Amino acid sequence: MRVYFDNAATTPLDPIVIEAMTKVMQENFGNPSSIHREGRTSRSIIEKARKTVANCINASIGEIFFTSGGTESSNMALKCAVRDLGVQRIITSRMEHHCVLHTVESLEKTHGITLDFVDIDSCGRINYAQLTDLLSSSDKKTLVSLMHANNEVGTVMNMEKISQICQTHNALFHSDTVQTMGHFPIDVEATKINFLTGAAHKFHGPKGVGFIYINGETQIKPYIDGGAQERNMRGGTENFYGIVGIAKALEMAVEKMDEKRTHIDGLRQYLKDQLTEHFEDIQFNGCQENYLYTVLSVSFPPSPKADMMMLNLDIAGISASGGSACSSGAEKGSHVLESINAPTDRKTIRFSFSHFNKKEEVDFLIEKLKTIIAIKKAATV
Ligand SMILES: Cc1ncc(COP(=O)(O)O)c(C=O)c1O
Repeated sequence: MRVYFDNAATTPLDPIVIEAMTKVMQENFGNPSSIHREGRTSRSIIEKARKTVANCINASIGEIFFTSGGTESSNMALKCAVRDLGVQRIITSRMEHHCVLHTVESLEKTHGITLDFVDIDSCGRINYAQLTDLLSSSDKKTLVSLMHANNEVGTVMNMEKISQICQTHNALFHSDTVQTMGHFPIDVEATKINFLTGAAHKFHGPKGVGFIYINGETQIKPYIDGGAQERNMRGGTENFYGIVGIAKALEMAVEKMDEKRTHIDGLRQYLKDQLTEHFEDIQFNGCQENYLYTVLSVSFPPSPKADMMMLNLDIAGISASGGSACSSGAEKGSHVLESINAPTDRKTIRFSFSHFNKKEEVDFLIEKLKTIIAIKKAATV
């Protein structure tokens, strides 16, 4: 038996997505920029996909731009905001994905922007009052970049609240929604936001394709110079098959969101209960009230066995992700665990789920863990 509990890293392609992509691979090869029939057919398939994606988040079609994924989308938002919108200051958090953190650090070096970090607590929640104070403290044109849900510990931020604070202070708002797109309802009409991002491979679509939503009132210049693709914003022949895949995958994710959520959240809770029942001193990272239901970040007590856990799980047939907060600097630890001050001697394993996972797989994991960590809870009578 092989169990895949690393869906926050990437998800398997849905067979229906493969079918939709294969159909266009077999039937359509025209360059979407060509004006003959083959080209026009490809163009209309791309525009249909754009409409599907736009509908899923209640955006207009003119606000959706296809990219190569989450990293490119966030780079585009942050770099174009500084270059084209006069942003002189960025407020973000230390638990953002590297596609945001490394980009803002680079903008600080190359463009001299001011960088401020909002405090986060030990559960990964941002300090909203301090965000307000930071915004009140300067007249510089500011962009706030805060992720919707953290990919390692699963804490979900209050997008509505951040959006309100940004509006009150006339700040731009970018959110990395890579982990929540297709898993949580997102409505850009209801929640005002300038930029948000999606990556198909996090919701059973293909890798190497994503999109950026840019609010219609937010006017930026081309990110990739070249042809007139993506309404001049991103030159280069489109990832045609990928675009078909992302639209199909997102449409399916949104259509059955509640049903899938109930199933996945049930598995997550079951794993939590089983771990607490069978093992000593198990803790859970991240906020357990507002959480990404696809992620359970488990903190195991220090032991020599815990250090080898990831490898032993893999050998036992289970794929998950590992991490630890590192204080020495010798080994590269998780910047997210460090940002929430997770104890450096404990071992974190992130189990992340999809609707393809089953309860029996959780049982299998628990059985394997009993032999791997060998610190079972004494049976209570
Ligand atoms: C929160 C978050 N942002 C961005 C990314 C990067 O997305 P991509 O792999 O599509 O570039 C990831 C992927 O791990 C992620 O989890």
